[in-house]
Amino acid sequence: MTVETDLSESSDNDFGRNELKKAVTRRRNFAIISHPDAGKTTLTEKLLLYGGAIQQAGAVKARGEQRKVTSDWMELEKQRGISITSTVLQFVYNEKTINLLDTPGHQDFSEDTYRTLAAADNAVMLEDAAKGLEPQTRKLFEVCRLRNIPIFTFVNKMDRPGLEPLSLLDEIESELKLSTYAVNWPIGSGDLFRGVIERETRDVVLFSRGERGKQSKEKRLKINDPQISQLVEQELLDKALEELELLEEAGSELDLDLVKAGELTPVYFGSAMTNFGVKSFLDSFLQMAQGPVARKAADGLVDPLRETFTGFVFKLQANMDPRHRDRVAFVRVCSGKFEKDMTVNHARTGKNIRLSRPQKIFAKDRAVVEDAYPGDVIGLNNPGMFSIGDTLYTGKHVEYEGIPCFSPEIFCWLRNPNPSAFKNFRKGVNELREEGAVQILYDIDQSKRDPILAAVGQLQLEVVQHRLENEYSVKTLIEPMSFQVARWVTGGWPSLEDIGRIFNCKTVQDSWQRPVLLFKNEWNLNQLEQDHASLGLSAVAPVVSGVNPITL
Ligand code: G4P
Repeated sequence: MTVETDLSESSDNDFGRNELKKAVTRRRNFAIISHPDAGKTTLTEKLLLYGGAIQQAGAVKARGEQRKVTSDWMELEKQRGISITSTVLQFVYNEKTINLLDTPGHQDFSEDTYRTLAAADNAVMLEDAAKGLEPQTRKLFEVCRLRNIPIFTFVNKMDRPGLEPLSLLDEIESELKLSTYAVNWPIGSGDLFRGVIERETRDVVLFSRGERGKQSKEKRLKINDPQISQLVEQELLDKALEELELLEEAGSELDLDLVKAGELTPVYFGSAMTNFGVKSFLDSFLQMAQGPVARKAADGLVDPLRETFTGFVFKLQANMDPRHRDRVAFVRVCSGKFEKDMTVNHARTGKNIRLSRPQKIFAKDRAVVEDAYPGDVIGLNNPGMFSIGDTLYTGKHVEYEGIPCFSPEIFCWLRNPNPSAFKNFRKGVNELREEGAVQILYDIDQSKRDPILAAVGQLQLEVVQHRLENEYSVKTLIEPMSFQVARWVTGGWPSLEDIGRIFNCKTVQDSWQRPVLLFKNEWNLNQLEQDHASLGLSAVAPVVSGVNPITL
């Protein structure tokens, strides 16, 4: 595959080229993957604190009384105290512009996280030291692996009793088939957590239970400093040194090429809540993380230094701010410089669009963006023409590979009992589908007009009903269907016709008029696969190109 730099196309403006190069060199972008409760909100908060993006920890998730989350703006989120939607947080630290793509904490919204990961160049895998790998982390890790992005591991909550550090590494190596390199090594854990030994410098960084929310000052001593014996129990230090020796002998070396290829994860031990190890993690992460990478398009890879702008929509979100009742399409800039008021081409429809009010969205606050560079995310007011995965470009035609939909596991009819509310019902369903809040399937029998909601998690259905009621004034009913597995037919309608009548599954169509088979269980699916080995079935929807969706 060729990397297309396309420097000839734009003017030979050296200044612009240097400016782009400088901006790309400065950019780092990442998403955090974790299981709920591992400490993602806490870590995000601390990272923002170092970036000066917030003055005081607690702004991301205010506690107690005012339990509102800056990145959680929806009413339901506030009521349930959970994080559903995701946003982008940008901050500057050590001359790097960092984009943190926030992902929803709740596992029912993993589809949204998959899409966000498609826009990320690096991932931080956050583990609770007492729990090790948890289901949601494993699932999200698989998505990162599909894209081979670098993964950095932060083992959190070292101030609490945890699993043996060596077994934590072993678990990552054996279960995820990912090599590890511990950047620092803990001395004790829980009540006996005394700090870490930094592998590169052999410095001991001492832990103190600092004041919650404040940036802590780390006390650093040389390993042979006599003070250490007064501050750290010899037994604990000896154990840590022995383990380190073991790692030196039998562990992997820090190979940056393997980190970049997503085959080796640097591991950091710390405690987000007490702010221990967060700054050194950020410093080290910024040295090793990859900048904006070349992205796969239909005609080859597109280099971020291509002078003309390209980007793709990875997320749509309606009614982020009830006062504005707007819809925002989040675009990841992939190449060139984006400028306000720019006219771009929309690859799927071939139309030209002027992007007049691009926004930078920091949680609830938004500001008009004058320009943006590869690795950045901009919010566009969505005039209803964007779908997830759409490419926007200037200059020579580019179409990025779409973002796959993952197989839903819960299906139900969505009924509108009040015919006079049909217009709102239709608008709501179409807009929520566009946003990717839920997948919508349709019966192939045209007389059955009600849409089928297809979700990954139960809570997604609740959100759809809640939003239809609150944002579109339609009370709906949900009627469960007894299916649990969906498969797209890769050969389309002709391949289904070839095999004739099939049993123990229901044929429906997705919003792009492609056949989808619904099964009651895996067993029925296996049966069909055995009976018709030539029928191509996929758990991931094929990428859409050049067609418009069916609307209700
Ligand atoms: P999440 O976004 O991944 O779901 O996790 P979140 O940051 O909300 O953290 C989950 C809980 O774990 C919180 O406690 C948080 O304070 C705690 N926590 C996070 N990091 C650490 C750490 O390094 N050490 C310890 N001991 N705890 C940590 P909570 O009781 O649910 O909430 P709160 O009352 O503290 O707000």
